[in-house]
Amino acid sequence: MNPRVEEIEAKLFAGVVADEIIASLNDAIADKGRAVAALSGGRTPGTIYRALSCPPRVSEVDWSKVVLLWGDERWVPKSDGQSNFKLAHETLLGLLSEAKPTVHAVDTSLKTPALAAAEYAKQIKALGLPERAAVPVMDLVLLGMGEDGHTASVFPHSGLCAVKGELCRAVKHPSDGSERVTMLPEFLFAANRVLFIVSGSNKSDTLRRVLRDEGAEEDLPARCFKRANERVTWFVDSAAAQGLQA
Ligand code: 6PG
Repeated sequence: MNPRVEEIEAKLFAGVVADEIIASLNDAIADKGRAVAALSGGRTPGTIYRALSCPPRVSEVDWSKVVLLWGDERWVPKSDGQSNFKLAHETLLGLLSEAKPTVHAVDTSLKTPALAAAEYAKQIKALGLPERAAVPVMDLVLLGMGEDGHTASVFPHSGLCAVKGELCRAVKHPSDGSERVTMLPEFLFAANRVLFIVSGSNKSDTLRRVLRDEGAEEDLPARCFKRANERVTWFVDSAAAQGLQA
């Protein structure tokens, strides 16, 4: 079975994805009494998080039953403009007045990214997630995709697609060497629901290659979606979907 691919007009994109996030969180809460979700970073999700923070959507989820993690984090202070935690705090977490989610952010105050990755994995294991083939299962993972086909901070030719038995790793961005902590594909794609959010014409060729070609995961890490196929939905705006018309 193939993943669901939803092409959405740019002006409707944030609302449609926010509604899907709410539905996924509420399904998990109805099923287990809580929802464990990993947020994405980058530029795309900001409008989606803001849509979640506004009425009526903001009261459509009991945030006190939501546990939030991050699929990846840049090795910067939480106050830094590059921080994925700061992005979510400014557009969602800091705007929730009543019920607040339980938040587990990567601790970028530790001595090294490797120590933070190990600590993060410990925090995740302490959540007592159910497992699929010995891999902890989150309820929802939100992922972006870079022009090079990376997702979270799993970059091409990193060797991380093949790693088993680990949840997180410290990595370096291949072009600027900036340090990051990322969840690994085995963990990310074990989730019950994986929502990719891809917008902009600059992504259209990569999106076509990821969805249509048989390229290797190591060349285009977003191709790891094939591991979760029917549990994946791609939300793409019309500009990113141009490459799919051909
Ligand atoms: C990050 C993200 C990264 C992002 C893609 C797409 O920390 O930057 O996790 O994987 O989702 O690079 O980024 P844009 O949404 O900015 O295009």
